[in-house]
Amino acid sequence: MPRIPLALSTVVLCAALLGGCAVAPAPEAEPTPTPTATVTPTPTPTPTPTPTFDTARYSIDDPASLWVIVNKRRPVTPTSYAPADLVIPAVSSTDALPLRAEAAAATEAMFAAAQAEAGLALQITSAYRSIESQTRIYNRTVGNLGQAGADQVSARPGHSEHQTGLAVDIGSIPAACSFEACFGGTPHGQWLAANAHRFGFVLRYPDGLTPVTGYIYEPWHFRYVGLELAAEVRATGIPTLEEFFGLPAAPDYAG
Ligand code: DAL
Ligand code: ZN
Repeated sequence: MPRIPLALSTVVLCAALLGGCAVAPAPEAEPTPTPTATVTPTPTPTPTPTPTFDTARYSIDDPASLWVIVNKRRPVTPTSYAPADLVIPAVSSTDALPLRAEAAAATEAMFAAAQAEAGLALQITSAYRSIESQTRIYNRTVGNLGQAGADQVSARPGHSEHQTGLAVDIGSIPAACSFEACFGGTPHGQWLAANAHRFGFVLRYPDGLTPVTGYIYEPWHFRYVGLELAAEVRATGIPTLEEFFGLPAAPDYAG
């Protein structure tokens, strides 16, 4: 188990071991009864615990959770999942593709900061993909690269975190090294790698970790996980979500 603060440890254990759980708050101090000589005090009822956090938000299995882990060994479940809160971010884009609302707002803030802090213009090059869209992309890539080649760069339908609406592919304006490893060496790619965590994103497919993630280096692909987890992943220096959560490596499709 990676080094995770208590609050996150509890959540991770719940998610990893129990499939989600609720944490009860410490009961509030019970009022002291004021008995009189003639009245027997009524026993104080046991407080009913209430969850202190939204368990669905912190599941690594629920596709609607900000922490869901999708890879070659962990398909989107159910396969038909589509997010309920897709919106089109108010940023430049090669296509009008949506993201989940929280990820869209974070993308807008990140792009604005890149421009304001570093004078770098960014654009979305891919975002939410339905399973039908992922099927088209994967099949087209198989046509270009063959299945073995395609499996290094494109998720099979039902296995892409783009289907969660929490993954965004980013390029520069003007476009340079779009969907290429050399994007990581551009000022835009370097700024994103250094700053994405401030907006709740992680670089999902780092260089040299294909045996863990199953995919080549994708310096353009960022995954929204929320500010809390992004900060913790950054602080620990653990490069992949698989390793952070102590999950098996996902180099290929089992079976
Ligand atoms: N390119 C990433 C792995 C995807 O297809 O989801
Ligand atoms: Zn992507």
